[in-house]
Amino acid sequence: MIVNGYSYKNIKKAANFLKKGEPIAFPTETVYGLGANIYNKKSVAKIFEIKQRPFFDPLIVHIANLKQLEEVAKIEDERIYLLAKHFWPGPLTLILPKQKRISYLITAGLETVAIRMPSNIIALSLIQELDSPIAAPSANLFTHLSPTTAQHVLKQLGNKIKLILDGGKTTCGVESTILSIEKNKKPVVLRMGGLPIENIEKIIGKIINPTKKSQKVLAPGNLKNHYAPQKPLIIINNEKEIPKYLKNNKQKIGYLAFQKINNKKILSDYKILSSQGDFKEAASNFFDYLHQLDDGPAEIILAEKIKEVNLGKAMMERLTKAAHR
Ligand code: TXA
Ligand code: MG
Repeated sequence: MIVNGYSYKNIKKAANFLKKGEPIAFPTETVYGLGANIYNKKSVAKIFEIKQRPFFDPLIVHIANLKQLEEVAKIEDERIYLLAKHFWPGPLTLILPKQKRISYLITAGLETVAIRMPSNIIALSLIQELDSPIAAPSANLFTHLSPTTAQHVLKQLGNKIKLILDGGKTTCGVESTILSIEKNKKPVVLRMGGLPIENIEKIIGKIINPTKKSQKVLAPGNLKNHYAPQKPLIIINNEKEIPKYLKNNKQKIGYLAFQKINNKKILSDYKILSSQGDFKEAASNFFDYLHQLDDGPAEIILAEKIKEVNLGKAMMERLTKAAHR
């Protein structure tokens, strides 16, 4: 059931479900999360079951204040407070050494835990009302498209969860940037996301980005076939390549453009991420438009290459995975 997430009554209701060990979905500024109380193992296990997610893929712990940060992680490096000061609440997840009380179910057996303080008021209120951090992956089925509206969650998980707090369309639109910080070492980015690397480097200096060079999976969940629509998706350089895929008009094409489309007539469906060419606007529309193209009349989705600067990196990372079959 979808309920208004801005009503305190509903936040209380959601917190009560969490207290009883029942996972619920809630908005963050990035994507919707499927949450469980971190101290209720059965409830955390249910998340994996609902999402059909393998147990080797660890979860992000969502906190509402710095007291909870120290409750879940060991802070051995001053840079962490600096990052928290500049970017929390917001779309940055830090990988830090875990405290004993954090179960290996959450971390998939790792000695580190992923933590972030979301900037969405409903998410923060929910954590405060529960008075405990919340473990939450994105509220989609494993490998499927991430949800940026309550309706996206309903479509994928509606028959499996009791409550979805509706906070409208998420403002950031792509998942958080994941950064691993080890004492006396250069930080390493494990997933491009809602906070551009350029912004982080301004605060703590050079970040290592191994995701491009090695094909090694750094975040265990960052598999190649993540974020996949149900229809085939192909990345093309620009609009000129569309006719190749028309197959004498026998194939219906849905097109995801960045800023504009010159010839809309040959398309069965299309979406323009940002007519202003604004990366923030594009990212906030990104998953929603992929969901809509996936649900619309097209048989295949062609996606235009996005310039890999700023949030363009996060979007291209997800498109590349969506195109991998
Ligand atoms: O924006 C977000 O991060 C959203 C919202 C709901 O907060 N959450 C999200 O969670 O994207 P999820 O589960 O879909 O992705 C979390 C990623 C996975 O790829 C997982 O492997 C990685 O974080 N991860 C979690 N703990 C880790 C750890 N200790 N070391 C390395 N990677 C970790
Ligand atoms: Mg996910």
